Amino acid sequence: MKKPQYIFKNKGIDGGHLYKFNHLTSTNDFIKTHSKDLSHGDVVWAINQTHGKGQLGRLWKSESFNSLTFSILIQKDEIKTILRNISQIAAIALCDLLKEYEINAQIKWPNDVLINKKKIAGFLAEVLTLPKTYLILGIGINLNNEYHFLKSIDKISTSVKMEIGKKVPALEFLEKFLICFQIYFNLFIEHGFKVFFEKWKNYCDLAQKTIQITLENEKKKVQVIKLLLDGGIEVKIDDKSKKIYSGEIFL
Ligand code: BTN
Repeated sequence: MKKPQYIFKNKGIDGGHLYKFNHLTSTNDFIKTHSKDLSHGDVVWAINQTHGKGQLGRLWKSESFNSLTFSILIQKDEIKTILRNISQIAAIALCDLLKEYEINAQIKWPNDVLINKKKIAGFLAEVLTLPKTYLILGIGINLNNEYHFLKSIDKISTSVKMEIGKKVPALEFLEKFLICFQIYFNLFIEHGFKVFFEKWKNYCDLAQKTIQITLENEKKKVQVIKLLLDGGIEVKIDDKSKKIYSGEIFL
């Protein structure tokens, strides 16, 4: 494995390490390539991620030093159950952390973090089955980016710096995030997603709204009946109710 610039011992999740690299193409892909040399709970952080991957095969644009890009390796039983909610747990942890910086964030279902409709962070969870089954949770946060970079992103975006008017040290923010995520991850493993439901409802205010959703490559207008305890949404489509767990929504 390429030599990291620094290893923060036991600063990952569940005693894993935090590996800091100067340049990587994609932190998710790095874990995929080097899963044999890494363990459960390890976190790979790239100061400069050159080919970040976003959801739906999109590109995730980031900027050296100003963007925060990292991935967590999770190797546990029940990976499929974890996959359903892990990005949502991370989104809740991030919204709670942003409150410490006096930022009121919202979650656009299923897991984009927004501030006044501008995207500040995204999550990409991928499951791999070879050589063993594991999950990679990739997280991209616009931290200290400024307007000239943000306006080059397709989606209307913001950053922590743009919201509070000052720079936040990346390591400080990352360590705080990992501490919060660790607590929520333990709670989730022990009790499931339902323990986050109140927080979830507050951040992801969708109930009774009419939204557009892409289902099987088709954009449909649906009414949200309610948010479900397991992180899904129940919607009304063509007078029938349907439970949905993934997809892109347009408010
Ligand atoms: C999205 O499209 O909203 C998901 C973005 C996920 C980006 C992160 S940055 C760190 C990790 N490595 C990647 O290549 N992608 C994820």
